[in-house]
Amino acid sequence: TRVAIVFGGRSPEHGISCVSAGSVLGALDPDEFEVVPVGITRAGQWVLTSGDPAQLAISSRRLPEITAESGTDIVLRADPTGNGLMVLDPTEGPRALADVDVVFPVLHGAYGEDGTIQGMLEMAGIPYVGANVFASAAAMDKEFTKKLCAVEGIPVGPYVVLRSGMTLSEQDKQRLGLPVFVKPSRAGSSFGITKVDDWAELDAAVATARQIDPKVLVEGAVVGREIECGVLEGEAGGAPEASVLAEVRVAADHDWYDFEAKYLDDACEYDIPAALPERVTRQIQEYAVRAFTALDCAGLARVDFFVTPELDVYLNEINTMPGFTPTSMFPRMWAASGLEYPKLVNRLIRTALH
Ligand code: DAL
Ligand code: MG
Repeated sequence: TRVAIVFGGRSPEHGISCVSAGSVLGALDPDEFEVVPVGITRAGQWVLTSGDPAQLAISSRRLPEITAESGTDIVLRADPTGNGLMVLDPTEGPRALADVDVVFPVLHGAYGEDGTIQGMLEMAGIPYVGANVFASAAAMDKEFTKKLCAVEGIPVGPYVVLRSGMTLSEQDKQRLGLPVFVKPSRAGSSFGITKVDDWAELDAAVATARQIDPKVLVEGAVVGREIECGVLEGEAGGAPEASVLAEVRVAADHDWYDFEAKYLDDACEYDIPAALPERVTRQIQEYAVRAFTALDCAGLARVDFFVTPELDVYLNEINTMPGFTPTSMFPRMWAASGLEYPKLVNRLIRTALH
């Protein structure tokens, strides 16, 4: 099977995508897969890389980056024969990306996890791992994730959407209370998110979030534990499956589960499975599968929740291409559920192919 692993990309999560791809590349069985490792630079240029996992790791707090020098420059254009997309390699001559059997877009955030590359692959008729155009776009956008999940009866916390130019009213401030989390509606890995403990800090927080997305969400903080659940599309037409749950515990010197805590500071502990009563575990798994179905997800998703001290459950967000880094929850939850990393990657590719 010829599989294109596509990584890097134009979103702020570029470096995380590279680390995720490094893990995926390291897990692919060379006897089974012929890999085409395609990097995308921050500027959007496509390069054919060596795919060496060693070059795609975090070293001394620095994230890897795909640049024009990371490999051979390739350009994409519609195949003149009408058969999908063509990658033009200036040194080796044309190669048709359409010749790959399947694309694994290991991309997080905008231009990767948001339906854009999925649309391109649909146009080209190339199978790909993960959610389709609609589900990718809906899950990328925290406003629509909440709206779609809420109508399916999944509890979501209080929030206000600030479209471009809008500000928070006094009434909304009273309703949400402090602290609030101010988030770009479409982003990931905690980029652009600020915890606001004093309304005087709100404008700066909104401005920070708007650097990533003009649409901003202000969420009332749900005081509770961070619980995550992996979901996989069912095999052979079966129902989606939920993994065992993980709890993320952030070290006391980190206020919340921000980017540094997630990837750089070794500041998190993970309980897998999460220590929760059986009833709550089953409830969260059921919500995770319901959310996956509500958005028409495919392949995989990681659904994140908050659980209050009273054991009330709130959906936080859905990630249609969750992190695959060595510290990422998704592969670890599946390993704890009996599906080891190489088998997980294998299953995702197989699911995409039919
Ligand atoms: N957005 C990051 C990669 C995650 O959800 O794991
Ligand atoms: Mg996310």
